[in-house]
Amino acid sequence: MEPLKVGLIGLGTVASGVASVLNKNQVDITRRITRTPIIEKVFVRTLERDNPYQLNLTTNIDEIIHNHDIDIVIELIGGIEPALTYIKTALANGKSVITANKELIAIHGNELLQLAADNDVFLRFEASVAGGIPILKVLREGLAANSIDSVMGIINGTSNYILTEMSDKGADFAECLKEAQALGYAEADPTFDIKGIDAAHKLTILASSAFGIPLDFKALHIEGIDTITKEDIKISHQEGFAIKHLGIARHSEQGVELRVQPTLVPLTHAFANVNGVLNGLFIQGNAVGEQFLSGRGAGSEATASAIIADLIEIIHNEKAQYSAPALGYKVNNLSPLPILPKPAFSSNYYLSFKYLENTDTQAVSMQLESLASKTLNAPFEIKLYKENQRVIILCEKTIEESVEKLLNNAMLIEGIEETKLIRIEKF
Ligand code: HSE
Repeated sequence: MEPLKVGLIGLGTVASGVASVLNKNQVDITRRITRTPIIEKVFVRTLERDNPYQLNLTTNIDEIIHNHDIDIVIELIGGIEPALTYIKTALANGKSVITANKELIAIHGNELLQLAADNDVFLRFEASVAGGIPILKVLREGLAANSIDSVMGIINGTSNYILTEMSDKGADFAECLKEAQALGYAEADPTFDIKGIDAAHKLTILASSAFGIPLDFKALHIEGIDTITKEDIKISHQEGFAIKHLGIARHSEQGVELRVQPTLVPLTHAFANVNGVLNGLFIQGNAVGEQFLSGRGAGSEATASAIIADLIEIIHNEKAQYSAPALGYKVNNLSPLPILPKPAFSSNYYLSFKYLENTDTQAVSMQLESLASKTLNAPFEIKLYKENQRVIILCEKTIEESVEKLLNNAMLIEGIEETKLIRIEKF
């Protein structure tokens, strides 16, 4: 059987998963592609390291990206440089590349896809979004007949773990973040997780595939979970909602909304049951209706599952002399849509107004109610949570500009020390 020689860049958790899955499923994978996958060489920074699969290690990247014997390169070091240079070189040398690098694809994906097309090779990145869940394959193939109305997801496992722990234990954000770091869930720089940047990288890729638009990371509105308190979670729960960190890409007549944010979701919706480090995705297509996927969004073998599926698909496509585009549209056919700015977002809202101790709560509530009636342009409910020193307004669908007006004016009311907006998805 002709060997399929793979070069790995990096030997961390995910790369070890690739070695492990190729090992344990070698017979089946060989049957699928009629070639035997072999990890020919692995680029590492130092040879002084564990090597449980006894792979052939090198500290010279040229032995991978300039090696005529290697058919496919798998990049798993993450970050922009040197990964960008390595991938560009491999593509220019006629090698197909698979990567799990969401940051790189979100920021340099257009250029890299063009380079792959120019060199008639494949660039695949299924593992970059939601780890083991094959969402890009679903969008580009299974749902290709649809015009996608929206795709939403819990796409950062660390944030989901922290919010789940805060909710289950009534614990503080800082305490749960420490736990997530100790368990090894957070990115090397945890601000990428808790400030929503990692999820934004992933949503950039999802939106591009869902709507056939160029990758445009800068178009996103990004909020992380670091502003959420245990009081927000408790009050939301009493109102029938869980707080989840969602990436939302929605296409309406007005344009496209691209936002990554903490979101109130009904306790009865499937998202509310995606807990811990799991990921979940909800897709609305204009022919198929609603679909929901959930599973492992990170981890060694789950991520390897997506990477090796890419590898198998590349071989099938090569055999068929077919170049399926990674995002479902050829790079030249990606075309931009108007992206709505934040004031034009349309949503239901949970608005929280924290007041100082010894405030006349009746007076504050009355002033807020009067202000809300003038500014919100939508029905709303107002509630007093005395034990949490908060007035809460739950507002039906309106334009964010109206909500911003209310929040700005509310700060002028005597006794109010803090305002907060969390968007609600009612589905
Ligand atoms: N830090 C990421 C997460 C890893 O928590 O989802 C997977 O991309």
